[in-house]
Amino acid sequence: MFVVLTLVFFVSLSATTNADHHHHHPCHSPNMTGQISVVSLKGEVKAYGTFTYDSTGKKLRFRSNESYPTNSSLSLDFLMFFDKGVFYEIDAKNQSCEKKSLQSVDHPLDIPDDAKFCTTLNTGSASIEGEGLKVNMWTGSMHNVKGTFSMFVTMGCLPVATLYSTDSTTFLFSAMEVEHDIKEPDVLMVPSYCEHQPLEETPEGTVNSFFNEFV
Ligand SMILES: *[C@@H]1O[C@H](CO)[C@@H](O)[C@H](O)[C@H]1NC(C)=O
Ligand SMILES: *[C@@H]1O[C@H](CO)[C@@H](O)[C@H](O)[C@H]1NC(C)=O
Ligand SMILES: *[C@@H]1O[C@H](CO)[C@@H](O)[C@H](O)[C@H]1NC(C)=O
Ligand SMILES: *[C@@H]1O[C@H](CO)[C@@H](O)[C@H](O)[C@H]1NC(C)=O
Repeated sequence: MFVVLTLVFFVSLSATTNADHHHHHPCHSPNMTGQISVVSLKGEVKAYGTFTYDSTGKKLRFRSNESYPTNSSLSLDFLMFFDKGVFYEIDAKNQSCEKKSLQSVDHPLDIPDDAKFCTTLNTGSASIEGEGLKVNMWTGSMHNVKGTFSMFVTMGCLPVATLYSTDSTTFLFSAMEVEHDIKEPDVLMVPSYCEHQPLEETPEGTVNSFFNEFV
């Protein structure tokens, strides 16, 4: 499935010239709950898990699900506050956490304001009812990380896929089972055992970002 998706998007990337010429501004996604898979273009499944996104408060929780039947290489649980520029890496089993500063606000669930509209395209079939998905593609440069992104969102601004590409890595983030609301508001609250956690110092040269959590 992941390989197919990846291929679809590469074909899309290289085969689109039908951009309409309206001036578009990036839409912003609503509050959401869903699943994300993260695959490197070497074919490695990095993670699969549940996300909760508060688009008003700019908060994002991601928890990987190790029971998903695949060999994902990372076990992650983090809560990001993009407006405050901080995030928590959470170990719920251990009831411990680390608080760190965020150097980049990029994440695959919302299009940055400075992104450029690229094109509208149809995945699947445009002419057969229920067999296609029309998406807008946006591109741009990553912030504080040397790299580029391509984002695909539905007409209603729900994320479908984001490709992040740096010199050393390319990751495809795919969103699935997206729902329009926040199922568990509690997961966007800092756990009590993290509340008084001091902010860790960021080592020289380190850039903390959503993307870098998967590197
Ligand atoms: C999104 O969720 C947050 C937290 O539950 C809430 O404060 C906010 O009003 C919601 N935003 C929208 C657009 O529904
Ligand atoms: C993990 O995935 C399994 C199988 O898809 C599912 O039953 C379970 O509820 C998930 N766990 C969490 C914490 O999301
Ligand atoms: C997971 O990894 C093990 C050992 O590397 C391998 O034998 C198995 O086939 C892999 N499973 C999947 C679903 O890729
Ligand atoms: C629990 O947290 C400590 C650090 O606070 C860590 O060193 C240890 O490996 C963790 N234990 C488990 C089982 O995750």
